[in-house]
Amino acid sequence: KVEIGSAVAGGGHHTTADYPEPFPNDPTYRAVLAEQFSSLTPENQMKWNYIHPEPDRYDFAQADAIVAFAEENQQVVRGHTLFWHSQNPGWLEEGDHSPEELRAILKDHVDTVVGRYAGRIQQWDVANEIFDDSGALRTEDNIWIRELGPGIVADVFRWTHAADPEARLFLNDYNVEGPNAKADAYYALVQELLADGVPVHGFGVQAHLGLQYGFDGRMQANLQRFDDLGLATAVTELDVRGPVGADGQLSPELRQRQADWYSQALEACLGVDGCRSFTVWGVLDQHSWVPGTFPGQGDALIMEDDYERKPSYCALQETL
Ligand code: XIL
Repeated sequence: KVEIGSAVAGGGHHTTADYPEPFPNDPTYRAVLAEQFSSLTPENQMKWNYIHPEPDRYDFAQADAIVAFAEENQQVVRGHTLFWHSQNPGWLEEGDHSPEELRAILKDHVDTVVGRYAGRIQQWDVANEIFDDSGALRTEDNIWIRELGPGIVADVFRWTHAADPEARLFLNDYNVEGPNAKADAYYALVQELLADGVPVHGFGVQAHLGLQYGFDGRMQANLQRFDDLGLATAVTELDVRGPVGADGQLSPELRQRQADWYSQALEACLGVDGCRSFTVWGVLDQHSWVPGTFPGQGDALIMEDDYERKPSYCALQETL
């Protein structure tokens, strides 16, 4: 009942000459994506700084290639993302736009990007990471909320729904596996949005886990309470990082714990009726954002760099 997805590597702050675009040029990578997964999420290629690099220029090349690839391989696509505080182009973040102009910019972006892929995207991560860990709206770092006020959240859902009535529209965040302050903030927001008739359809748990932090065993219960509100749920960006040795690997003991966490996350999703989408944030560690973002950590994904299956891969397979 559940789509198993991967992020499609490409772009990212860590892209260098040593890190060639693996998509669409690497045939082995493409074959593994096609064979092993039934859902794809562009890791970076639909983010503002990629798809809308200048005020009057959109660049759809990578996103088009991913959507076409998914269709060729009978895969669904999760669009990611429309409304975020990160990976926005300089012209937007440093521009001198009035609130009216910003509103028009956001609406035009949604109409253009969502409209282009209308009918071809199963789920959109409309709003990404709009709360901080304390459960407060990001009124300072999210340009839209800062300049336009919290009501813009409802508007971006309405505009997205108008541009693609078939897509299921998600709120998405990290550190919301268990029912903590941030997850509670989403739970309250969803109730408000639904009461106002706003088209919000899903709650996505990114699940960027760290072995040093623990994994909240209440994940299924947390997903379930959103399900009880009538929302779909999804695990959208799962990876499990930890401290690596000089070889870039976790100890065998940590790899085993990692495998347990992968399968626990999948079990939590499988235990909830409306959790039909389960995505790991990449395939190979050589493409993963983890080593570049969290120094000293890595080995977070499910295959070795030669596509050998790690314990985490096998744990997922056994849990399915
Ligand atoms: C990450 C990508 O994996 C990196 O390539 C990029 O440099 C930064 O963003 N939450 C999200 C994702 O919603 O979009 C982020 O992806 C990881 C955290």
